[in-house]
Amino acid sequence: MENKIIKGFSKLSRIEKLKYLGEISGKGDQIEADLDYFRLNDLEQQSLLDEISENTLSNFFLPFGIAPNFVINNKVYHLPMVTEESSVIAAASRSAKFWAGRGGFHARIVSVEKTGQVHFMWQGKSDRLKQVFPDLKKELMCATHSLTTNMRRRGGGILDVSLIDMSHELENYYQLHVSFDTLDAMGANFINSCLEMMAGTLESFIRNQKDWTVEERECEIVMSILSNYTPDCLVECWIECDIKDLDGVYDGMSGEVFANKFLKATQIAELDVYRACTHNKGILNGVDAVVLATGNDFRAVEANAHVWASQTGKYKSLTKAEISDGRFRYELKLPLALGTVGGLTKLHPLAKLGLELLGDPSSRDLMMLTAAAGLANNFGAIRSLVTTGIQHGHMKMHLSNLLNAFNANKAEKLMAKTRFAQSTVSYSEVENFLNTLRNTK
Ligand code: MEV
Repeated sequence: MENKIIKGFSKLSRIEKLKYLGEISGKGDQIEADLDYFRLNDLEQQSLLDEISENTLSNFFLPFGIAPNFVINNKVYHLPMVTEESSVIAAASRSAKFWAGRGGFHARIVSVEKTGQVHFMWQGKSDRLKQVFPDLKKELMCATHSLTTNMRRRGGGILDVSLIDMSHELENYYQLHVSFDTLDAMGANFINSCLEMMAGTLESFIRNQKDWTVEERECEIVMSILSNYTPDCLVECWIECDIKDLDGVYDGMSGEVFANKFLKATQIAELDVYRACTHNKGILNGVDAVVLATGNDFRAVEANAHVWASQTGKYKSLTKAEISDGRFRYELKLPLALGTVGGLTKLHPLAKLGLELLGDPSSRDLMMLTAAAGLANNFGAIRSLVTTGIQHGHMKMHLSNLLNAFNANKAEKLMAKTRFAQSTVSYSEVENFLNTLRNTK
């Protein structure tokens, strides 16, 4: 690879970009063929995908699958999931089937508020700012009136604005803390537009305080941006059943032994940060897969979940298990800011389809379905961990990846699946098996 900065890459045509990359990578014309192979024949759809991002050269495919038979609040859903991890959809489907016979998943929305902040610096006695804040608030609401018209008409909009004095943390630092209800939209653009408008209004309001000193009439807007932390946009999802209904969850294990072992596993995830991280990753396996399949922002979802998991000052599991009066209850509480309109949701053809398969849900519904996917994946993981061990199921799913890595043909794959049906899959076992097969031909 050439160690040189290229200027104006985005201005090059696609062909010029490919030529440049072909030259510096040593792949020559092959790069065009490799990238073209994954482009769509339908030029209209392809150009739609191209325009989603910058410098697009091809499409990067991930499996789009369905985890069927999720009973959530007594309704059956077949959840679309996009993931690169081979066991995620299998684990979600298995848990969905297991819980369908035990009352299904229960979910409720706790709250739907989102937050944005204008971060600014102001020099003066904070009481002076606090005194004029009621008037400032009126002006802020007034200034954003036209931006919020549509949202208000549909029942959402700006819920409140407060002034937060942070000058004890950082000299002269204040925030406007704004809460929003963005209804079915994730609302990032809406929130950021309102915040930028508010920042301008704040500056001129302060400039116009005639009886303030010159210094006081100045403020520095540092930035205006939504927060991806949404502790007040919260969903709760749980599963519960009589402990005796867990009998036989694993050969020869009583429901009581299983429930108690499960409880210990979740307690460990509450007290040990190494385990909590992996535990929560297993939840996000399910959450992210639905988030991706419905065109939502998985980085925002991840960041949100991890801050929430640290809300007590220590990073903990997002779930809680409970055993009482012969009942087992397992709960996930998670902040989730999702949209079912706007963004990619209707633009990306498969995100649109994913939402259609869910019956075009509201964002509240999607929050509950997504949380159920997270809880299902996590339940599946803990179930395996405290019974068979994770590798049993994982490596079975991983077998086809290994076979593909060794370029196994159809017949070899069939033989390998029979050979490894009852025994442990490992890289070297699969390699040995294929070598033996190929050498005895
Ligand atoms: C793997 O993607 C996820 C698990 O590690 C989660 C867990 O350990 O709970 C199986």
